Amino acid sequence: MQNKKFNDRVNKVLYGGDYNPEQWPEEIWQEDMKLLKEAHINELTLNVFSWAALQPSEDVYDFSKLDKIMKLVKENGFKVMLATSTGAHPAWMAHRHPDILRTEFDGRRRKFGGRHNSCPNSKTYMKYAPLLAKKLAERYKDYGNIVAWHISNEYGGCCYCENCEKAFRQWLKDKYKTIENLNRAWNLDFWGHTIYDWDEIVLPDLRSEYFAPGRTQFQGMSVDYKRFNSDSILKCYKAEYDAIKEITPDIPITTNLMGFYYDLDYKKWSKYMDFVSWDNYPSNDMSPAEIAMGHDLMRSLKQGQSFVLMEQTPSVTNWQPYNALKRPGVLALWSYQAMAHGADAIQYFQMRRTKGACEALHGAVIDHVSSSNTRVYREVQALGNELENIDEGLLGSKFDSKIAIYFDWNNWWAINASAGPSQELDYIKELRKYYCACFRNHVTVDFVGKDDDLSGYKLLIAPVLFMSDKAFAEKVEDFVKSGGTFVITYFSGMVDEEYLYILGGYPGYYKDVTGIWVEESDALPNGATNSFFYNGKAYDASLICDIIHPVDELNESFKGKADGLEILARYEMDFYANTPVITKNQYGKGRAYYIGTSSTDDFYDDFIKGLLKELQIKLIAEADADVEVTERYSKDGVYTFILNHSNEEKTVQLQGKDAITIAPITTKILYKDL
Ligand code: GLA
Ligand code: ZN
Repeated sequence: MQNKKFNDRVNKVLYGGDYNPEQWPEEIWQEDMKLLKEAHINELTLNVFSWAALQPSEDVYDFSKLDKIMKLVKENGFKVMLATSTGAHPAWMAHRHPDILRTEFDGRRRKFGGRHNSCPNSKTYMKYAPLLAKKLAERYKDYGNIVAWHISNEYGGCCYCENCEKAFRQWLKDKYKTIENLNRAWNLDFWGHTIYDWDEIVLPDLRSEYFAPGRTQFQGMSVDYKRFNSDSILKCYKAEYDAIKEITPDIPITTNLMGFYYDLDYKKWSKYMDFVSWDNYPSNDMSPAEIAMGHDLMRSLKQGQSFVLMEQTPSVTNWQPYNALKRPGVLALWSYQAMAHGADAIQYFQMRRTKGACEALHGAVIDHVSSSNTRVYREVQALGNELENIDEGLLGSKFDSKIAIYFDWNNWWAINASAGPSQELDYIKELRKYYCACFRNHVTVDFVGKDDDLSGYKLLIAPVLFMSDKAFAEKVEDFVKSGGTFVITYFSGMVDEEYLYILGGYPGYYKDVTGIWVEESDALPNGATNSFFYNGKAYDASLICDIIHPVDELNESFKGKADGLEILARYEMDFYANTPVITKNQYGKGRAYYIGTSSTDDFYDDFIKGLLKELQIKLIAEADADVEVTERYSKDGVYTFILNHSNEEKTVQLQGKDAITIAPITTKILYKDL
């Protein structure tokens, strides 16, 4: 069901965001109501950071101010996303119950301060956070205007305290059952680290298995710790989720995610979220394609279910080295971009710019000048006006992607934990290369995880599939056998899910489908390149160069001819000159490409273009690379989004339509019948 519960509660695009009236005197509230309504804001996210006010002491709760705020916004016709306030604990709680404080990677226990600061295995946090959520649900269950619950805020980080260490031991017991299994999985015979008792387990931090920044001496242990930490924080979320669900079963629940966020396995988390919501804060140097990639990942978590853009800044952030203003028109452009990739609601952080502390220079709908006469307010208002005209058919509408990119948090953690082959290897950068080439070729991409259904796709791309799961590899084999095209790259199929290297030749479980065997991998220092010719054009090979053979060469009776395997490109230089770098293997009705190195955008553009042609994947439009075009399908028709990210006028040739010319930094939504 397409985000049904959420969309049943709203019949238009929600437009609003974080509003913190509790930080202001009441005189200002009325003025806010007027300004926000005039800006066409229809939703307010309340109560994100009020724990200290709601629970001033152990057994004392005070909802009087929140009652007033809830009443005020309801009277003024706003929908509410009600947050639970557990993203930052009160000072008294930290003072009386220091177990709630986190410990850093270097072993330093934090004092009270900051936010997103609670130890996920603290008994105090696990007692008080769900209790507050429960009290809020009980109090506001009949309020009528709540469209969703917003649990905590931007969960994340990692704790290395002693409580976490104890909980880690239990998590390991549940997973491995016996000490022998654990010794085997982590290969603890190495350096004689064998353990005989669960209590001998020490969590991996600076004081134990640290190897180099981000790296570790025992990869299996460190990846398990990432899994454990993500699960621990998820447990906190679930405790609040369950407390609320029991009281308001019909109100959907979410928490705001952060795109490609390293510490939490969002794919696992999304199973426990009624809908996905996320905060989009691109840094100044991100391209439109890179921003789109975050949206597509968020849409893909629940396999195409539309999401809520919970936060974006209307103008400027406060946390980048240089906080550039969003140029005129960019606010609308990036809002529509979110929608073009699956957002059903457009929201900001925040409604009114705070007066003190570190976010006083962060953008807001209402600035310190408290006037509607600002560029930002006018842009917010103009967009709000436009959004009111979008019909509800858009809500929950779907995407029709023929291309999937495989992405997995375990693989990300595994690659980062690896000691070798290159410190430059960055999973997300390598993913981006393939994603951005698809973007520039005007096709829609989904991200898939190992449990997702592959049957609707023609092309599956799995960059750097280092940690591989046997069941997923079998799924890929079936996908290819029945006609799918699979692309896999260097440094793939190396370790299993326990982080033990797969014996018998790389790419491990993918040897048969690719028809190749990787004997060695050469890491090229930053800036160094090899090269290859592909379809008559020369391209760079960089980062890692796999030395590849037909898999049949592993067989001693091999006579030099590999069935179905074509060598499409060979290295030009070094001792492995003339050996394969790109191969294509016919397997069943489909084929598998192996790309043995990393290259530059021109290669990926040409490679993807070739594949689209070969697989007859329809481009949505003919347009320059900096024009973005997507389609969302509803039961009544198609919404075509055209976004011009450049500063020049552009012409787009749409399938079955005349050419359309769009102004610089602009968006257009077309609606046509199917
Ligand atoms: C995050 C938080 C908000 C705010 C913004 C500022 O997304 O959720 O509370 O701090 O960042 O960019
Ligand atoms: Zn802890």
